[in-house]
Amino acid sequence: MKILVVGGGGREHAIIKKIKENKNVTEIFALPGNGGMTADATCVDIKATDLDSIVKFAVDNAVDYAVVAPDDPLVLGCVDALEEKGIPCFGPRACAAIIEGSKAFSKKLMKKYGIPTAEFEVFSDLNEALKYLESAPIPTVIKADGLALGKGVIICQTREEAVSAVTEMMADGKFGDSGKTVVIEEFLEGPEVSVLSFTDGKCVVPMISSMDHKRAGDNDTGLNTGGMGTVAPNPYYTPEIAERCMKEIFLPTINAMTAEGRTFKGCLYFGLMITEKGPKVIEYNCRFGDPETQVVLPLLESDLLTVMMAVTEEKLSETEVKFADKSACCVIMASEGYPLSYEKGFEINIPEDISDKVYVAGAALKDGKVVTAGGRVLGAVEIADNLKDAVDGAYALVDKISFENAYWRHDIGQRALKA
Ligand code: AMP
Ligand code: GLY
Repeated sequence: MKILVVGGGGREHAIIKKIKENKNVTEIFALPGNGGMTADATCVDIKATDLDSIVKFAVDNAVDYAVVAPDDPLVLGCVDALEEKGIPCFGPRACAAIIEGSKAFSKKLMKKYGIPTAEFEVFSDLNEALKYLESAPIPTVIKADGLALGKGVIICQTREEAVSAVTEMMADGKFGDSGKTVVIEEFLEGPEVSVLSFTDGKCVVPMISSMDHKRAGDNDTGLNTGGMGTVAPNPYYTPEIAERCMKEIFLPTINAMTAEGRTFKGCLYFGLMITEKGPKVIEYNCRFGDPETQVVLPLLESDLLTVMMAVTEEKLSETEVKFADKSACCVIMASEGYPLSYEKGFEINIPEDISDKVYVAGAALKDGKVVTAGGRVLGAVEIADNLKDAVDGAYALVDKISFENAYWRHDIGQRALKA
């Protein structure tokens, strides 16, 4: 089988390594992939948002199955376009990807179907938003409606901060069209849990839970990033919480999407906060998380491609999805300066004997060498019988990897270990 994976980060590298375990797979194309994953996939220089070229490539190369991993091609309709040419896909169609593509949509969906989430108001008129902020509870959270590279959420501790956040989004066009509509929502408190799930629109199978570390600096200081490290499972996700989530959030969400004529098939990511009043949805993503995938998929004991194809064929309920009773930790090695500006082009040294535990995100090939080419450069992932050993193991891997200007957090997993 020839498989095509759209995307090119650490998440895609984790998906590719796992798909490779299936013996029927003869070739994997990554569009665009990156210079650090050429041992695992044939990387083709086509942008993940260039739908016409992706479809043409898939047809010309007789691809049997496609996995669309990033949010933007999903929201743009990459799955719809491939399916039109008869290529089966893993991932939601555009009409369902809107659950991540528009926060106004997802908030209204949750309200309509009684799914627990923060209280909110939606505004497309700046003056109305400003008027609301005069008496809104503080702290408050301002969210750009559309995709904003994970930067469209601003937590405001004062009314002044809220006013400037809303003004920047709605009047100054800080996030382009994504910020023309904003969601203003209640500030929630509690530990956060990421739960990725497989769903074929009929049933939903949660994967092992995980915990992201979004801030750039140790002890959750500094700017928000795409994620500086993850652990799985997440100790805050107890069996009791898991049961409530299934009943109050997971099933109601997939049923709501189907009732709206937007059946969701693929990986639905639930970003949850465990508040005093129970679990609430912070966000939905229409895809695998990055770097959650790098700790979740290595723990999957079932064959990933088989599960993905069962999702496509709506046979998930007949398919086993089993996770190892172990722990995993991923430490992201980034370029110093990320998430702001950083230098690129430094050679990355990964010892051969640990390369299967390294998921490369921001790398390019230059004169036959793998060099840094992005903010998040790679993730080092260790699996162990317990979380402590996984964390120690991941940092031991980091010690063996080197590139100039490397930066990483030193406390990935510490909060989970204390929980
Ligand atoms: P997002 O980009 O939607 O993942 O949001 C980024 C981060 O902002 C989340 O991981 C939370 O830590 C935080 N956040 C989002 N919404 C809220 C909220 N209503 N209350 C408190 N924190 C929030
Ligand atoms: N790590 C969070 C995300 O993928 O959105």
